[in-house]
Amino acid sequence: TVRRLVPDSDVRFLLSESGSGKGAAMVTAVAYRLAEQSRLITQTLSEFRLSTEQLLEHGDFLALDLGGTNFRVLLVKIRSGKRRTVEMHNKIYAIPLEVMQGTGEELFDHIVQCISDFLDYMGMKNARLPLGFTFSFPCQQTSLDAGILVTWTKGFKATDCEGEDVVGLLREAIKRREEFDLDVVAIVNDTVGTMMTCAYEEPTCEIGLIAGTGSNACYMEEMRNVEMIEGDEGRMCVNMEWGAFGDNGCLDDIRTEYEKMCSGMYLGEIVRNILIDMTKRGFLFRGQISETLKTRGIFETKFLSQIESDRLALLQVRSILQHLGLDSTCDDSIIVKEVCEAVSRRAAQLCGAGMAAVVDKIRENRGLNNLDVTVGVDGTLYKLHPHFSGIMHQTVNELAPKCNVTFLLSEDGSGKGAALITAVGCRLRQELN
Ligand code: BG6
Repeated sequence: TVRRLVPDSDVRFLLSESGSGKGAAMVTAVAYRLAEQSRLITQTLSEFRLSTEQLLEHGDFLALDLGGTNFRVLLVKIRSGKRRTVEMHNKIYAIPLEVMQGTGEELFDHIVQCISDFLDYMGMKNARLPLGFTFSFPCQQTSLDAGILVTWTKGFKATDCEGEDVVGLLREAIKRREEFDLDVVAIVNDTVGTMMTCAYEEPTCEIGLIAGTGSNACYMEEMRNVEMIEGDEGRMCVNMEWGAFGDNGCLDDIRTEYEKMCSGMYLGEIVRNILIDMTKRGFLFRGQISETLKTRGIFETKFLSQIESDRLALLQVRSILQHLGLDSTCDDSIIVKEVCEAVSRRAAQLCGAGMAAVVDKIRENRGLNNLDVTVGVDGTLYKLHPHFSGIMHQTVNELAPKCNVTFLLSEDGSGKGAALITAVGCRLRQELN
């Protein structure tokens, strides 16, 4: 009958040998694989790329941004339609040293207290909002909404957190407060949040870089190279945690005595240690190591930025040093400035070397002679130091000449990226259910 009624068609009938149960099982298998949370992260990213074109995401999202210079709570309003818009409101909160280094319970109670203040400020106490948590410390991420803290870095030392799922700690603190409910959907590293923030505007952005308090990068790796997860299709975002490079001793033979540290948290300290060393050898401060110079943390990285500014006369360098309690001659000031320049140049070149390796790996992965790629980047060192960004760019050009790398400064911080990931995560979760 079909052939007679539709003579131009070529319809074949294939007898189902195993009934529709097999089909149902296959659909379940695929759904199961998609639901497998670690995959959700990759899928979130590719869906995210799609959705920037299709404008699927919509709603109000909360984001937390912990691990940089500032702790922020944000409300991100995503509106789709003909014109997509992302409206953000945020407040910066202090995390006192005693809280950073107290108990885990105190730290997370403080975070929830800040959320409470923010919700009051926004007049949104009663809404059950989805939340994205930018948590910029090394974590073993077992799902989109679970990350086990491997170790604290950047001065945080709160007890009873290492080895724990920090999303669980946040949820418990929200429960303890009994004041509002939140749906914690995603935990995100700041490199990933930054990449996503920039990718929202620029789809060629496949790398995130932080040159701030800490130093780290993430990039899109081919699934076939990701050994921890089965499957060869597509790409997975890999948070490199390159600040920990060498922790297993692999750099011991080439480390300088001033360590390999290259992030904002350490540059001032490296300079101070070098100044002590040079004073001991009689090259500086008339060979007198003052009590000030012995004080840990006295030489903050922001002073490197000030001292290295091209607009600063030597006299002003001297006055910065005097302000720090370092009584310097004119010659001392010249030497201190040279030490600062050497330390920050080295840091920028180390960061550039890491980035060159990443872009060249992406190029080789794809079998390309040349690669055009965009790096989303954030961090005070990158933004505020007068020469860091320039030297870093130049190093990448020199070490990866086959790659044309554009650096895109993240203007909105990684909280926006976390909110966007949360938005996609929410939609995917609904679709899977
Ligand atoms: C901010 C991001 O803009 O930059 C944070 O929102 C990130 O997520 C930070 O951690 C990094 O820079 P810094 O200098 O504050 O450590």
